[in-house]
Amino acid sequence: MRAVCSRAQLWTGREALKVLICLGNAVSRPYKICTQCRYSSTASQNPFSSFLTTTPSSKVDLQGQSYEKDDWFNLPPTIASQIARKLHVQKDHPISITRAIIESKFPSQTYKYHNDFFPIVSTLQNFDSLGFPLDHPGRSKTDTYYINKGTVLRTHTSAHQADVFRRNESEGFLISADVYRRDAIDRSHYPIFHQMEAARVWDRKTVPNGDIAAAVWKDMEALPKHNMTVEDPNPPMHPERNPLQKKHLEDEAAAIAAHLKRSLELVVAEIFSRAKKAAIMANPDFADEQLKVRWVEAYFPFTSPSWELEIFWQGDWLEVLGSGVVAQDIMTNAGVPSQIGWAFGIGLERIAMLLFEIPDIRLFWSQDERFLSQFRGVMDNLDSLKRFVPFSKYPACYKDVAFWLRSSSSAAGGGGSTFHENDIMEIVRDIGGDNVEDVVKFDEFTHPKSGRKSLCYRINYRSLERTLTNEEANSYHEEVRKALVEKLGVELR
Ligand code: DAH
Repeated sequence: MRAVCSRAQLWTGREALKVLICLGNAVSRPYKICTQCRYSSTASQNPFSSFLTTTPSSKVDLQGQSYEKDDWFNLPPTIASQIARKLHVQKDHPISITRAIIESKFPSQTYKYHNDFFPIVSTLQNFDSLGFPLDHPGRSKTDTYYINKGTVLRTHTSAHQADVFRRNESEGFLISADVYRRDAIDRSHYPIFHQMEAARVWDRKTVPNGDIAAAVWKDMEALPKHNMTVEDPNPPMHPERNPLQKKHLEDEAAAIAAHLKRSLELVVAEIFSRAKKAAIMANPDFADEQLKVRWVEAYFPFTSPSWELEIFWQGDWLEVLGSGVVAQDIMTNAGVPSQIGWAFGIGLERIAMLLFEIPDIRLFWSQDERFLSQFRGVMDNLDSLKRFVPFSKYPACYKDVAFWLRSSSSAAGGGGSTFHENDIMEIVRDIGGDNVEDVVKFDEFTHPKSGRKSLCYRINYRSLERTLTNEEANSYHEEVRKALVEKLGVELR
């Protein structure tokens, strides 16, 4: 296939972010798969398919623990080797700075901070404890890294919710952690990212007169106000679209919703006021756009009613978090049936990209001093937070690959269910590592007679740290072509 090596147009941080941090807006709502709040999806797509071959049963050592592998194992060494990085607790790393800014809006007298939960969890913790149905696409091998059938790298911080409720140590908590998902390759997606989970509960047994609604409204009144414009057109609950739980009274769920929403609006106001300050530091003539924020109804298996918060940013609505009133079954199963409250989950990379104007998610993993030095000292003095200044833009090197799928795969027109694009993404990532900027499918057709399917992908090889030679890119690409044949059984065209 044609290989194009060119100098891509220069992106400013703003332009790149605007295009890249678009999360689900273009896709119709009920079927959207948003990688950072993907569990709002109701889509059902080949949940148990993967072409990738698995290693025969044996043991694997990860993070000082030994695990039995089985035929669910799909963890590549490139991911395993990054588990120890824990960017959310590295001093002065932008992910850690973002965490600290969000934590500052949740006082530690009420909210206990958990920043060191172990990343390998059971499927019980990651899915069952939260009420994920057995056929939920999030459980599939194509989306999740499995060590064995019952053990995964956590795909979200919600995996720890039930355990922390069971510990019952505080009225509220925050959990920050690295999470792992098999995914597309582009400048806003990386198979490891960071989330922050929070919850706040009230106990029927200890609030005055057992009146949850009154206690929550009182706490709500004590929260600071903000002057942001927030659109919230829907009622707190709706019998079909966003129902009240059977065990809850309407006025208590409404009070909890109000407390949740105000708490999160305060986070957004804080982030954007810091972002604005940084923008003015970089450019005193910076013209501020009116910040617009809106609540939209959502669905998660573990909350009801549920909402997402969207921010209007440079012409688009960006979804930044998922939240809701915690499913009462979670509380009951955690041994605290008298408690009721809210929870939310927020992706830290997305917020950090907005806050610092970081245009490519791979930068967070950079060990380059030109990146890291820009954030030194910020955690000791958050007011010194500055925008990221891109150090250079190296040339892109585009290479195409086209192939016929195996005729047995569903995407190839047969009845099986064995092809998933994430398998291609992983092969490319395994070989090219962070030297791959994005992988895009640009053509697809089905042969009218044979019913066989052909796919064409364009891979952009570009390092963030240096110029890649054409020879290097060619050698990556040759390896990718070979691996596609060996691992996915495709026929190159
Ligand atoms: N865990 C969800 C995800 O990763 C986000 C989320 C949604 C967390 C709602 C919550 C919640 O705690 O209440 O997509």
